[in-house]
Amino acid sequence: MAGWTELLACVIAAFFFYKWFKFYRLRVKLAHIPTLGSDSFLWSYLDAWRFISKGHTLIEDGYAKYKGQPFKVACHTTQSGWLVVVNDPNMIEDMRKASPEVLSFRGAAIDLVQTKYTSPRNFKATPFHVPVVRSPLTKAFPTRFARCCGRDQGQRISTDWTPFPLYQTLTHVVCRTTNRLFVDLPLLLAKSKDCGPSRLEPQPTFFAITPNWLKPVVGPLMPCHALERRAKRILARLIQVRLAKHAAHGTNWEGPVMFTNFLSIHTTALVRPLPMVGAFFSLADHRSSTQTSTDTLFDLAARPEYIAPLRAEIDEAIACHGWTKDALARLVKLDSFMKESGRFGGNAAMAMRRRACQDFAFSNGVVIPQDVTVCVARRPMQLDSDHYEDPLEFKGFRFAELREKEGAGLESLQHQMVSLDPTYMLFGYGRNACPGRFFAVNEVKVLLAHIIRELRLEAPR
Ligand code: HEM
Repeated sequence: MAGWTELLACVIAAFFFYKWFKFYRLRVKLAHIPTLGSDSFLWSYLDAWRFISKGHTLIEDGYAKYKGQPFKVACHTTQSGWLVVVNDPNMIEDMRKASPEVLSFRGAAIDLVQTKYTSPRNFKATPFHVPVVRSPLTKAFPTRFARCCGRDQGQRISTDWTPFPLYQTLTHVVCRTTNRLFVDLPLLLAKSKDCGPSRLEPQPTFFAITPNWLKPVVGPLMPCHALERRAKRILARLIQVRLAKHAAHGTNWEGPVMFTNFLSIHTTALVRPLPMVGAFFSLADHRSSTQTSTDTLFDLAARPEYIAPLRAEIDEAIACHGWTKDALARLVKLDSFMKESGRFGGNAAMAMRRRACQDFAFSNGVVIPQDVTVCVARRPMQLDSDHYEDPLEFKGFRFAELREKEGAGLESLQHQMVSLDPTYMLFGYGRNACPGRFFAVNEVKVLLAHIIRELRLEAPR
């Protein structure tokens, strides 16, 4: 009779045979797309590890080698183990037009963030927050940015030169600024420790690369579960009060306009919005807005000649219009500088990550098999002379000059940071493009305008 060791060896051999078979079956279907790196069973597994640390460089290398054509890279954070990278404008247009039932943003996000294990109760929830961000949040907040301009009690600004680690400092500033709008100031102050950035960090992405059979064991240990519990503890009472007021007075109730307000009104289940709000705090806003502000300030400190014209523009707009939507719309040079910073640096090499829920054929005949993830080589496209004049030169007022040349009025979104463009994908593109971008750009503008007006900044020598 076979012993345990032989049995275990058979199970392991069967497991590897199954993996190998699946791998080769998919490889045949993807054979028409060139591979960056190896497409053998073992080496592609190692390449996928390399992609975790060197993804930026690999996507740039792939773009240089296969410009105009799709290529694939091995990747642990996709369901199929492959990521197909697209850079042809017509193929991007095909992706934009594809319905979410065919190319799914949500499917790709679930693979990346692993919601099935990290937030199992919300995994299948309707994404009710998207219309809330798109409409009431975007409409209500631009006029309320004055709310976030106060200083917390006891905070003082030093008159001496003080070194700050920029990203960490701004994480805190962005977090507290947003929370002044998302929850309410009294709650923010009462729960100041819980509303701080360090408490609301997302789960490490390394979870996505944990072997599938280990995920149900490791998932419940992830810090995001504690985050959900904390978000519930902090916000449950607030949302209950809002719901009661809403039930009693309907839309006539004049309460403070806050994100949690909108969320509670737009959903009937009390428990659902809480973890979602928590996830928002950390994922949607804090990280991206902090990164955008940090990049812009580094670019500004490295090019101090831009400080005076930006300060003059900000002073004039605030003197005439105060901290209002009108004033923010007049910060055309600041908007251009922020946008150029996003073009030149940007925090991601790829954009428009979508998982194919069924075989998807591009108009040029390239077919993406079901379960394979596609994305766009965002950064190399932003640095390509086919799309931008002198692409490797930082021109802070590039977009302001384009607007002027094309006679775009203040109300026009043309060349503004929030406008969507297949060659500039800071906020993605198509139907899943970031609905929070109007909010985020205004928030970052207010934050930068304050820093540029009130502080002198210099990069370390
Ligand atoms: C500078 C700050 C931000 C950046 C750079 C950013 C960037 C992005 C990107 C690249 C996407 C994916 C788009 C795609 O794949 O086509 C996205 C989606 C999303 N963002 Fe943002 N974002 C920012 C701030 C915010 C804020 C403040 C909110 C909410 C208040 C928000 C809410 C969302 C939501 C809900 C989605 C998913 C949309 C959907 O499911 O269709 N984002 N964002």
